[in-house]
Amino acid sequence: MPSDLPSPGRIRPRRTRTTPAMRRLVAQTHLDPAQLVLPLFVREGLTEPRPISSMPGVVQHSRESLRRAVTEAATAGLGGVMLFGIPEHRDATGTQATHPDGILNVALADTVTEVGEALVIQADLCLDEFTDHGHCGVLTPSGAVDNDATLVRYADMALAQARAGAHLVGLSGMMDGQVGVVRDALDGAGYLDVAVLAYAAKYASAFYGPFREAVESTLVGDRRTYQMDPANRREAIREVAIDIAEGADIIMVKPALAYLDVLADVAATSTVPVAAYQVSGEYAMIEAAAANGWIDRRRAVMESVLSIRRAGADHVLTYWAVELAGWLDEEIA
Ligand code: PBG
Repeated sequence: MPSDLPSPGRIRPRRTRTTPAMRRLVAQTHLDPAQLVLPLFVREGLTEPRPISSMPGVVQHSRESLRRAVTEAATAGLGGVMLFGIPEHRDATGTQATHPDGILNVALADTVTEVGEALVIQADLCLDEFTDHGHCGVLTPSGAVDNDATLVRYADMALAQARAGAHLVGLSGMMDGQVGVVRDALDGAGYLDVAVLAYAAKYASAFYGPFREAVESTLVGDRRTYQMDPANRREAIREVAIDIAEGADIIMVKPALAYLDVLADVAATSTVPVAAYQVSGEYAMIEAAAANGWIDRRRAVMESVLSIRRAGADHVLTYWAVELAGWLDEEIA
């Protein structure tokens, strides 16, 4: 044996990569449909689903097509669905968010009728889809987002969603004190079992771009006075600690892929389950690259969601949830 070639000797990590069975045996992270949540858009007044051009394959649902979509999600064995409503009419305080006949509330009720407890039925609890200015809260006369006045609206919104049958309300507005106020409102009205998902570490991100088209956002400007600065890592731990102290049942990091360091930090310290949201821009980037033939779509989707789980997410909100669940089934079969 030529002695001038370097040799790894007895220590050969490649041994545990030799066969599919060996790789499966030592895989540290697994994907399971139960750990996937599908975000869904429902738009008032539609009779047919309407495509969202910046999110190929994702649509704004009509009430009717939403019912089919949630049934499909339940059949796929997903963990849940997260509903977003797009109302016909918007105003300064987002009246449609709290109206019992508002699109999000009726869609929640439809979903409960359709799938009952087969899925965790969740709704976005935020005002941006309902306000004419597109901010996540109500505004002061000078146009700033009024934190405490917004909390009053969130409490009402939580009650409207609980009455409609939501199992979990997803607070995505990044107002200070939102978890505590919503928990108090739910408890006060007897909704002790309605859980609170806090979008605790939610960053002011360019990756929400396609979502703005999906909900026909009217926002001019940005959300930097309430969503977190992408430069900050330590602050996520603070936000998570506050939300848990206020009673959050699940906390979230959002976006996912550009924030895996944050996700790993949060997963290491959180005492409650950790969710991550693979947002619209993350979806659009992979779809666009795959449409150009630049990456292998299925492998890129799988790898991105797996990475989010590996970094520490217990479950992942992803627009690919149903398709991904189908792939996982094929692998097991
Ligand atoms: C706020 C909300 C947003 C998203 C989820 N909830 C938009 C925002 O904060 O600007 C973005 C989700 C995505 O991009 O997929 N209602």
